[in-house]
Amino acid sequence: MDKLLKRTNMCGEFRMENIGQTVTVNGWVAKKRNLGSLIFADIRDKSGIVQVVFGDGTPADVLEKANGLRSEYTVGITGVVRERESKNKDIATGDIEIVALELSVYAEADTPPIYIKDDDNVSGDLRLKYRYLDLRKPYMQNILAFRSKYYNVTRNFFFDNGFTEVETPMLGKPTPEGARDYLVPSRVNPGKFYALPQSPQIFKQLLMLGGTDRYFQIAKCLRDEALRADRQPEFTQLDIELSFVDQEDILAIQEAYLKKLFKEMKGIDIKTPFRRMKWDEAMNRYGSDKPDLRVGFELVDIADAVEGCSFQVFTNALAEGGRVMGINMNGCSEKFSRKDVDKMTDSIKSFGAKGLVWIRKEENEIKSSVGKFFDQEGLQKICDKFDAKAGDLILIVSGKKEVVWASLGFLRRDLAGKMGMLDPNKYEMLWVVDFPMFEWSDEENRFMAMHHPFTSPKKEDLHYLETGELDKIYADAYDIVINGYEAGGGSIRIHDSNLQQKIFEVLQLTPEDIKTRFGFFVDAFKYGAPPHGGLAYGVDRLVMLLLGSDDIRDVIAFPKNQSAQCVMSEAPTPVSDAQLEELSIKTNII
Ligand code: AMO
Repeated sequence: MDKLLKRTNMCGEFRMENIGQTVTVNGWVAKKRNLGSLIFADIRDKSGIVQVVFGDGTPADVLEKANGLRSEYTVGITGVVRERESKNKDIATGDIEIVALELSVYAEADTPPIYIKDDDNVSGDLRLKYRYLDLRKPYMQNILAFRSKYYNVTRNFFFDNGFTEVETPMLGKPTPEGARDYLVPSRVNPGKFYALPQSPQIFKQLLMLGGTDRYFQIAKCLRDEALRADRQPEFTQLDIELSFVDQEDILAIQEAYLKKLFKEMKGIDIKTPFRRMKWDEAMNRYGSDKPDLRVGFELVDIADAVEGCSFQVFTNALAEGGRVMGINMNGCSEKFSRKDVDKMTDSIKSFGAKGLVWIRKEENEIKSSVGKFFDQEGLQKICDKFDAKAGDLILIVSGKKEVVWASLGFLRRDLAGKMGMLDPNKYEMLWVVDFPMFEWSDEENRFMAMHHPFTSPKKEDLHYLETGELDKIYADAYDIVINGYEAGGGSIRIHDSNLQQKIFEVLQLTPEDIKTRFGFFVDAFKYGAPPHGGLAYGVDRLVMLLLGSDDIRDVIAFPKNQSAQCVMSEAPTPVSDAQLEELSIKTNII
């Protein structure tokens, strides 16, 4: 190997003031152009690109060696900085170039399977297969550096505010966060398994019982659940818990954290305190417990305008206790064709919607997909509910309230996105508070904890535990919502072991279940538990939001694809029979 030329500067650093200096850069050949007596090479490192010229004073042997350079060779170059004749305004170092005096080739390279250019748009899986090449893009390196700075700002804030960073185990028992567990077989305890943590929830509460008082951790969490653009099977939480506090204390310190974070990471002053909205209000106005408040398009209940109409889909929905609701996409009638509306209809089927009714208000006429069932007066009555004007497009969904909420909640944001109305540089923060304590699960045929079973019900709703009216119980639980994403969530915890026992019972856990799953945890509360509460942020989501991206994989160095695979290493992979035997495991895959 050629000798290492010790670096004096990073490639992206050079400016006019460096002219005349003798410098050394290390990096990759991004591009080479051979003009006969002159060879130009763009050299790239994580900071950016600088142009190097071979010729005009380069020793002949170095010039000849440069002739053999190809893309992605790793090199060291020593030379003298000079002003460029034709400047390149597109790159930060475009005023200068380095005239090479010395060249070391550290390694040659095959032709790379992906272009290593910031604006390259190859398919996601190919980028992930060659992630180490993808990461060579300064753009990707900027993201890693940004995330690293995020950790630094975060650690400083919590350390300065009296929090102790504590690591909790990766090998443990299942945590009740509602997703499937990733299991790890124990070799020394045949037939037994650890569960990887879905969150550090139980341990952080035990830390409060242990007197830690204020805890935080940047924790890896693992959940085997359906993947989406904002979900990964393995993700990072900023996990926080505090003792001797109420909900107000927790929200206040989080607002201070987010204020500092946005200032230091983005230079943005966000206003505190943040808006707050009860869960019920969020669902009724926006159809979502994570409403994007950058746009309006609020849901309107039109039951009284369609009551007794001849369109049975609406009347049946109301008779069955459901809803008829809609949104007014103000001024958008011309922007969405009939075909677009068909696509919208398809897009909400996954939420259980059977159809989508549209009304277009024009200057002299109101058109509608249900024009057969409503005369102009009937349609006008509906339009009045929305305060509709000529050019407005009204979209209506009917059915079970959950279906109506989910469908319209999706449409308002999706359509706003399609119309370019979601400015990634504008941040709308919202606390959604007072979540229902329980939600009915058709799959399990029982009530489940909406957040988790350690969340404290609201004091004033406790009597419903006695009457069994579980759907009337709300919790001291809150989510921080940023631009339509659930960036974090938490709650005040139950610290009274009798109440905890009662909650387990209404969740239909048998005394046996309680003992085997949470016995150690319940016992711990017998020995003096502080009132406590906390929350956890999704770090990947938060960094994604700070960067204005909408794909969580952008901010993770080595993410999984939509099938939870690492396309680079091909994990997960089969293991040898010997390894399975050692773990006392037999699979039924042939
Ligand atoms: P929760 O389950 O709401 O709460 O998770 C907290 C935050 O973690 C992020 N998150 C995810 N990010 C990426 N991929 C995933 N698969 C994923 N799942 C969750 C979200 C979410 O808001 N122990 C409680 C917190 C507490 O009560 O203190 C918990 O884990 O941004």
